[in-house]
Amino acid sequence: MANVVVGMLGLGTVGSGVVKLLSNHPTIQLKKVAVRDLAKAREISPDCELTDNPEAVVNDPEIEVLIEVMGGEQPALKLITDAINSGKHVVTANKEVLAKNGPELFRKAREKEVAIFFEASVAGGVPLISTIQKGLEANQISSVFGILNGTTNFILSKMEKEALPFAQVLKEAQDLGFAEADPTSDVEGFDVAYKLSILTALAFGKFVKPDDIYREGITKIAAEDLEHAAEFGYRIKLLGMAARLKKDAISARVQPVLVPLSHSIASLSGASNGIVVRGDAVGELMMIGPGAGQLPTASAVVGDVVNLATALRLQDFASYFHTKVGGDWQTVQDPDEWQSAYYLRLAVDDHPGVIGRIGTIFGEHEISISSIIQRGVTAEAANVIIVTHPVKTGNLNRALATLSKENFLSSIASRLAIFEDSPEQ
Ligand SMILES: NC(=O)c1ccc[n+]([C@@H]2O[C@H](COP(=O)([O-])OP(=O)(O)OC[C@H]3O[C@@H](n4cnc5c(N)ncnc54)[C@H](OP(=O)(O)O)[C@@H]3O)[C@@H](O)[C@H]2O)c1
Repeated sequence: MANVVVGMLGLGTVGSGVVKLLSNHPTIQLKKVAVRDLAKAREISPDCELTDNPEAVVNDPEIEVLIEVMGGEQPALKLITDAINSGKHVVTANKEVLAKNGPELFRKAREKEVAIFFEASVAGGVPLISTIQKGLEANQISSVFGILNGTTNFILSKMEKEALPFAQVLKEAQDLGFAEADPTSDVEGFDVAYKLSILTALAFGKFVKPDDIYREGITKIAAEDLEHAAEFGYRIKLLGMAARLKKDAISARVQPVLVPLSHSIASLSGASNGIVVRGDAVGELMMIGPGAGQLPTASAVVGDVVNLATALRLQDFASYFHTKVGGDWQTVQDPDEWQSAYYLRLAVDDHPGVIGRIGTIFGEHEISISSIIQRGVTAEAANVIIVTHPVKTGNLNRALATLSKENFLSSIASRLAIFEDSPEQ
């Protein structure tokens, strides 16, 4: 293999790992790395030029492959676009830029006959993207779902194990370096929505706009919900879920859901990622592994670089790596149409007739209750915990809106979907 000259944008957690894995590579030469602040103390000093001018990397004619590990939408989008326009191949770990601009970037890459590799953008070190893109080519994929964010899985696991509130565990996760100083993207589910958008493109041929993905985070989950879930035989997990429905529609959602304890996804604790892919020929696959971290993520980035470099001198090689992703966006099913069982925790006044009234309102909205228990009963107040049979989500929302007008209801403290492991998921 002839020498391949690469340049990199970013030398943070992932970029430093890439430098470690590429050092002493016999044929891949890292020529330039761009950072924001040249004066910053670094974990590693690459044996190449360091610049605070990313354009100097993108515009270097000798560089054939651009590694983008700076993150964020801008200036990453502009720099990747400039690189593609000047005929460079791109390896990126940036889920946000791909989820928000995938159709346009892949269209441009096809036009310019270059390849975009993005294994690290979803599930870090787990080779999920190449598995779907190449390994499952013979399949029609019906669903992809799983734990795609290690930070929130770590938080939920610890909340359950130690019966601690969300805010305390988040603070501990931040102190340990498992959660960002600004945790919004993780705990509100944006990070999973970006990854799910990319997975829908691979599995179903089109990206879903991240804003069109139904999204709930984990900030409102209380330790008592985790406890009640366990009583009913479930564990709460933040899942990204996308499924192909009839008539070419798809559903795409990010939600904390109650997963039956018997499901393999329920047993994944800590910062791991675990993803299930269902194909018509292969059946069900599950991949588990580190979804983040310096070397696992760098493993995916460098794997992409080596694959690219190996194929680079083959004629028309880029077309082999072009994703079969459409140039437009996929629309998704209205969340009100979803059929799901639900777990509800209602804070109510402890008066006679309350349970009867809840039952009447639910009945009027075609919601049938599978279990109902009362917990935390004091002289005046109680928590009513309800598990429903599968219902149309729109009906549940209307029932809860009616219930909210009742004087006995203090709050709908929790409303969580129950994961049903059917081929429709
Ligand atoms: N960390 C993970 O475990 C992980 C896992 C999967 C995917 N990813 C993705 O990998 C990418 C990088 O993540 P990371 O954790 O390595 O981020 P990070 O530690 O914050 O590093 C970002 C790097 O980019 C540089 N940078 C940022 N803006 C720049 C600008 N405008 N011009 C020049 N340089 C700039 C920073 O320079 P300075 O060093 O000078 O500040 C820093 O070196 C992100 O897209 C992330 O989503 C990360």
